[in-house]
Amino acid sequence: MYLTMDEEKIYGGESGETLATCMEILVTLGEIYGADRLIPVRSVQVAGVSYRTIGDAGLKWIRDLKAETRVPAILNPAGMDLKDWKKMGINEDFAERQLEIIQAYERLGVRPECTCAPYHVCRVAGFRDHLAWSESSAVSFANSVIGARTNREGAPSALAAALIGKTPNYGLHLDENRIPTLTIKVDGKLEGSDFGAVGHIAGPLVKNETPIFEFEVKPTPIELKQLGAAMAATGSVALYHVKKLTPESGLYPEPVEAITIEWSEIKEVYDCRCEPDLIAIGCPHIGPEELSRLAKLLKDKQVKKELWIFTSRRLAKQHKEEVNQITKSGAKIFCDTCMVVSPASERFRCMMVNSGKALNYVPKICGVQCTLGTTEECIQKAVGEKR
Ligand code: F3S
Repeated sequence: MYLTMDEEKIYGGESGETLATCMEILVTLGEIYGADRLIPVRSVQVAGVSYRTIGDAGLKWIRDLKAETRVPAILNPAGMDLKDWKKMGINEDFAERQLEIIQAYERLGVRPECTCAPYHVCRVAGFRDHLAWSESSAVSFANSVIGARTNREGAPSALAAALIGKTPNYGLHLDENRIPTLTIKVDGKLEGSDFGAVGHIAGPLVKNETPIFEFEVKPTPIELKQLGAAMAATGSVALYHVKKLTPESGLYPEPVEAITIEWSEIKEVYDCRCEPDLIAIGCPHIGPEELSRLAKLLKDKQVKKELWIFTSRRLAKQHKEEVNQITKSGAKIFCDTCMVVSPASERFRCMMVNSGKALNYVPKICGVQCTLGTTEECIQKAVGEKR
């Protein structure tokens, strides 16, 4: 792999041990995957934030680094709401460690936005921009909906990219790896969570292909967010296209191979799996449109079951009216975290979600049963209305 003279110097340790280690991480990755060189990135999204995931060893690693980010870098959700962690039932020891992790990242210059939907809060990605993002749903959205270019980075490689300002040029940074190779025709007039259900089904079917979807009705960006998040969770799919909609869909020849997902298969994903004692919305973190929709759905209502809604702190601050409307109903809005990365959900027995990604991860990571509903069904369940 070619390195410029400056990169060679960093690699050789002239800029200190931290940057030499970061360069080593990037070069090793590049050599494994056949990159020709390093390319500059516009932004980085850093996962590996929850104390539950990285533990004391991760905290020590971040704390020992001595460098500063060279490009905008933002954090993925943490293991708790950084302010209202007591309301979530998080214990003091966990909170203390989690706050230390956030401080350690901040010291390096990583912004504690703590969101998996950075595109809702900052301008950090545009068409054909090279990025180094970590969280799978964010990676999918950036590649597929924005038309930016990022591989799914692990926590160390994302942080290394933030501190060097570059990433190895391989995988989804290259045109030839973005060509659709499998058409997925989807039966039925889908809306809302149906797209999460399709992603849930499509993930394992896609394997190593790059899918291009054909839908009867054009999905909205929020629906695409749900589709990509679920597909990334059940199948590690980091890029998809939607015919006549996503930015790169018309750039490549049509794939020869095609499969169909039937409406009956989509409906099956909604089969009731358990009676929820927690309803959780916000996987991925909700954006402004979803926030105002929830405010309307909860207007003049009172929740009878726990209803938790997850978003970024920046967005919650910018939309105080909707937040007040929602919290007046007794629902709780938590920022900086989510139902999967926080241990707070573990005390519940059954979670109802409107997200195909959460449907897959909640049982595996939190050990809690999970059932899927539309957003309206989730709200009806929370306020005790009959479906
Ligand atoms: Fe985001 Fe947590 Fe879901 S990080 S995509 S809300 S699992």
